[in-house]
Amino acid sequence: MENNDNKLEMIKIGCFGESSVGKTCFARKYVKCESEFDLSTVGVEYFITNKTLSDGKKYKIKIYDTAGQERYRSLCLGTIRGCDGIILMYDITRKNTFDLISQWIENINQLKENCPLVIVGNKCDLEDKRKVTKEEGLEIAKNYKTVYFDSSAKQGINVENTFEELINRIIHNINLEKEKNVNIKLEKGKKNKQKKRGKFC
Ligand code: GTP
Repeated sequence: MENNDNKLEMIKIGCFGESSVGKTCFARKYVKCESEFDLSTVGVEYFITNKTLSDGKKYKIKIYDTAGQERYRSLCLGTIRGCDGIILMYDITRKNTFDLISQWIENINQLKENCPLVIVGNKCDLEDKRKVTKEEGLEIAKNYKTVYFDSSAKQGINVENTFEELINRIIHNINLEKEKNVNIKLEKGKKNKQKKRGKFC
C-alpha cells in the first residue's frame, strides 16, 4: 500500500510557558511517547504525530516543545511566527507561573497577531497543592477571548481535549484565510475583466 503520509497537511503547534510547568510531559502524552525522562528542554525540540481529526481528515501535527528557562527565551519566542496555534501553560501549584501569563500573551501578540491560543493550567492532579483556582484560569482566558483547560499531563486529563480545541480553532482560521484568498482572486479576476472590456469599448 502506498504511504501518503508525506503529503498530509501539517499543523504546527507551539507549547510555551515558564520552566517545569509540564510542557514536555503534555506534548509527550499527546504523541504517546511517554518513556521516562526528567530533563529540562534545551532550546526548542519537536514531536510529530499523525492524527485523524474531527473533520475526518488526517493531518500531520508538529509540536514545538520550547524551553521555559529564561536564557532560551528569545530563541523560543522566535518560533512563534512559524506556529499555527499555541498552547500557553502554567502550573496550578506555582502562582508566579500564572502571574506571568499576561506577559506571555503580550509577547506572543507582538510577534503574531490573532494566533489561535489555548491557556492550560497543568498539574491538576496536585489539587491539595493548588495555588491558582480554576476560576482564575477561566477569567484570564475570558479576558483574552480564548478558552482555558485544567489539565494533568501526568494523568492524561484534558490533554486530547486541549489539542482538539486548539486544532479546531486553527482549522477554522485556515479555512477563513483560504476563503479570503479565493475572494481576493475573484475580485482581481473581475477587475481584470473590467479593464480588458474597457480597452475594447
Ligand atoms: P522546561 O523544559 O524546563 O521548560 O519544563 P517543562 O515545562 O517542559 O516541564 P516538564 O514536562 O519537563 O515537567 C517538569 C516536571 O513536572 C517533571 O518532573 C514532570 O514529571 C512534572 N509534571 C509534568 N506534568 C505534570 C502533571 O500533570 N502532574 C504532576 N504532578 N507533575 C507533572
